[in-house]
Amino acid sequence: MKIAMLGSGFIGRFYADSLQGYRSKDKIVTIYSRREESAQKFAKDYNVPFSTTVMEEAINRPEVEVVCISLPNNLHEEAVNLCCKHKKAVITTKPLGRNAEEAKRMLQAVEKAGIFNGYLEDLVYTPKFIKAHESVKNGALGRILWAKSRETHPGPHSDWFWDIEQAGGGCILDLGCHCVEITRSYIGKDIKPVEVMCWADTQVKPIDAEDHAIGLVKYENGAIGQFEVSWTFRGGLDLRDEVMGTEGTIWVNSFLRTGFEMFTTGKAANYVAEKAESDKGWLFPVGDELNELGYNHMFMDMFNAMEQGTQPKETFYDGYVVNAVLDAAYKSAKSKQWEPVKLDIWRGRVGVSKDAHLQEYDADHYLVKEEVTHYGAKKVILKNKKTGKISEQVLS
Ligand SMILES: NC(=O)c1ccc[n+]([C@@H]2O[C@H](COP(=O)([O-])OP(=O)(O)OC[C@H]3O[C@@H](n4cnc5c(N)ncnc54)[C@H](O)[C@@H]3O)[C@@H](O)[C@H]2O)c1
Repeated sequence: MKIAMLGSGFIGRFYADSLQGYRSKDKIVTIYSRREESAQKFAKDYNVPFSTTVMEEAINRPEVEVVCISLPNNLHEEAVNLCCKHKKAVITTKPLGRNAEEAKRMLQAVEKAGIFNGYLEDLVYTPKFIKAHESVKNGALGRILWAKSRETHPGPHSDWFWDIEQAGGGCILDLGCHCVEITRSYIGKDIKPVEVMCWADTQVKPIDAEDHAIGLVKYENGAIGQFEVSWTFRGGLDLRDEVMGTEGTIWVNSFLRTGFEMFTTGKAANYVAEKAESDKGWLFPVGDELNELGYNHMFMDMFNAMEQGTQPKETFYDGYVVNAVLDAAYKSAKSKQWEPVKLDIWRGRVGVSKDAHLQEYDADHYLVKEEVTHYGAKKVILKNKKTGKISEQVLS
C-alpha cells in the first residue's frame, strides 16, 4: 500500500515503525505535519519522498492509495472530509470522534463517498486479545457474563490531550474508547449496548476534563461491560482485561508484569516501554511493542481487506458505536443515573432477550452448584422447580 500519513507525532511514528518495519512492502509516500521541520524530520527518518504542511496536498497525490489519520481528535473530521472529497481510502486512529455526533457525520460521509474506511483500534488486534477472543468465540467460556478492561497510566504526552476542546474529553474518551471496544468484542459486537452508569472525577490534574473514571455498560442480553480508566495511575501503563463466562475465565495482562522483568541500577539506562515511569530499579520492559500493542496485526487486517474488497474487523461504524457508549458515560457521570446509549444507527441484532439462567439438573430440579469438598464429599445443591425449595444431596 502507498500511504499518506497525517501527523508526525507519537502515534504517527508508532504506525510508521509498524508499517515500514520488518521489511514491509507498505510504504509511506507523503507526510503532512503542522510544522515544516517536523514534516521534514519524519520524511528523513522514514524515507518519505513528499512532505508538506498543507493537509490536502498530502492526501490529493495520485500515488496515495490510503490515508492514515494520526492527528489530534479535533482534526479527524476535517481530514476524513478531505479523504471523501478526493475519494481516498481512509484509516483513522481512535477515538473516531470527540462525540457520537461527530463520529456519525464521519461514518455517513465515508459511506456516501463510497470509500474504504478502517478504525485503528489496535487493542483488539494484540496477539493476546486475538487468542483470547478466539477462545471466547469457540465457546470455551460459555455465555459471557462480564467483560472488564482497564487502561490506566500517568497521563498523555502532548498538550492538546489536556485541552478539553481539542481532545473532546479526558481519560474516558482517550482510554475508555479502547476499553469499550475490547469488552464489546468479548460480549459480541452484534449485541446492543443499552445503558451506562459511570463515576468520573478530576482527582489530581489541573484540567477541566476527568482524570479518573469507572463505568458499567449494560448489554441487551444481560451481559455487563466494565471500564476503568485513569490519567493519574502511577507505575507505568497498566493494560488488563478480564472476561468471565458460565464455563470459564480469562485474565490478560498486556503490558506490566507480562513475564519480562529486569533490574538495573540505571547504568546505561534505556527506553523501557510506553509510559514507563522509571529506567532504574525493577522494570517491566515490553519485548516488541509494535506487535504486543497490535499495530502489526491491525494494519495487516486493514490492508488485506482493502486488497480483497472486504471490510476490516474495525470500521468507522465501530468507532461510532464506541463514541455513543462514551457519550452515555459522560451523561451518567453528570446525572449519577443509568443513561441510555443513543444509537441512531444500529446494525446488530435487535430485541435480544436476557439469556436464561436456569440450568436443568433432572426433571424436578435446577442445578445451583456442585462441589467436591476437602473431606471428599461430592455435593450438589438443587432448586425444586415447583416449590422453589433449595436442598443439597451428598453423592459420595
Ligand atoms: N494506541 C492508540 O491507538 C493511540 C495512541 C496514542 C494516540 N492515539 C491517537 O492519535 C492521535 C494523535 O495523538 P498523538 O499521541 O500522536 O499526539 P501527538 O501530539 O504526539 O502528535 C500529534 C500530531 O498532530 C500534529 N498537530 C497537533 N496539533 C495540530 C494542529 N492544530 N494542526 C495540525 N496538526 C497538529 C502534531 O504536530 C503531531 O504531528 C489522537 O487522536 C490520539 O487519540 C492513538
